[in-house]
Amino acid sequence: MVNTSVTLCGIELTNPVIPASGTFGYGHEFADYYDINILGSLSTKGATREPRFGNPTPRIAECAGGMLNSVGLQNPGVDAVISEELPKLARVFHKPVLANVCGFSVDDYARSAAKLDKVPQVGWLEINISCPNVHSGGMSFGTDPSAAATVTKAVKTVTTKPVFMKLTPNVTDIVSIAKACEDAGADGISLINTLMGMSIDLRTRRPVLANTTGGLSGPAVKPVALRMVYQVYEAVSIPIIGMGGVATAGDVLEFMLAGAAAVEVGAANVADPLACKKIIDNLPAAMTRYGINDLKEIIGGAHHG
Ligand code: FUM
Repeated sequence: MVNTSVTLCGIELTNPVIPASGTFGYGHEFADYYDINILGSLSTKGATREPRFGNPTPRIAECAGGMLNSVGLQNPGVDAVISEELPKLARVFHKPVLANVCGFSVDDYARSAAKLDKVPQVGWLEINISCPNVHSGGMSFGTDPSAAATVTKAVKTVTTKPVFMKLTPNVTDIVSIAKACEDAGADGISLINTLMGMSIDLRTRRPVLANTTGGLSGPAVKPVALRMVYQVYEAVSIPIIGMGGVATAGDVLEFMLAGAAAVEVGAANVADPLACKKIIDNLPAAMTRYGINDLKEIIGGAHHG
């Protein structure tokens, strides 16, 4: 019997598989498909201080090797997330969740984080400084070490829960951003968010997405994500949640060998609502196949053979 459990900042997960923010709603929407309590945890759609309709449509497009999205942080606002969505989730999911928080100013992040800090069901805060689909805030905080540190400090001041900073791959030096977050008090790093891209419709000769650009996710980004998890693992001593194109149990093992303590699954949920269940079901056999008895023991294994 293999051991699939992992620990994230002192909280044990029965397995490392976590649906990524924005690809799994607030979780309760998936409870009709399977018992979502098999998940290690889940990351909720990013909450902003005020409700947001998001960007104009079309805002999702398939492309070779994945998909583009420019959703624009559609969500009902942090107060409705707390009063409506999280209680619905609590009825069907009995484990701590990652509450994903987005903002347009440092104060936005701090206010929303302070509210989510008081929700017992929230185990960790995942602070999204990496959304590429909004014209202010979002990714602009995650492309500058000093801005990333400022948001980290502001959030740490208002919560006692572990804080994971979610980073963008749209930078030349991911390590400097991760280090800045760690030095500012982050308890963990989530990476990667989507890579900025676009697609053009040959019939209209115009961009497919109404917002022109969007974030690329899916199998196409996996090598970039693995490389960044590997580099960040060498530089920081806080846990990493790895993500980017994870679609199989083998992908989970690769990310853990690169240095991830847990793994988020994103675009795969959009293609197949059962994706996380299939990965979890296949994980023990994949471990046995590669001679792994305890998942915790392979974290960072690719760095030392
Ligand atoms: O546009 C969006 O809602 C995406 C958010 C993200 O990538 O963080």
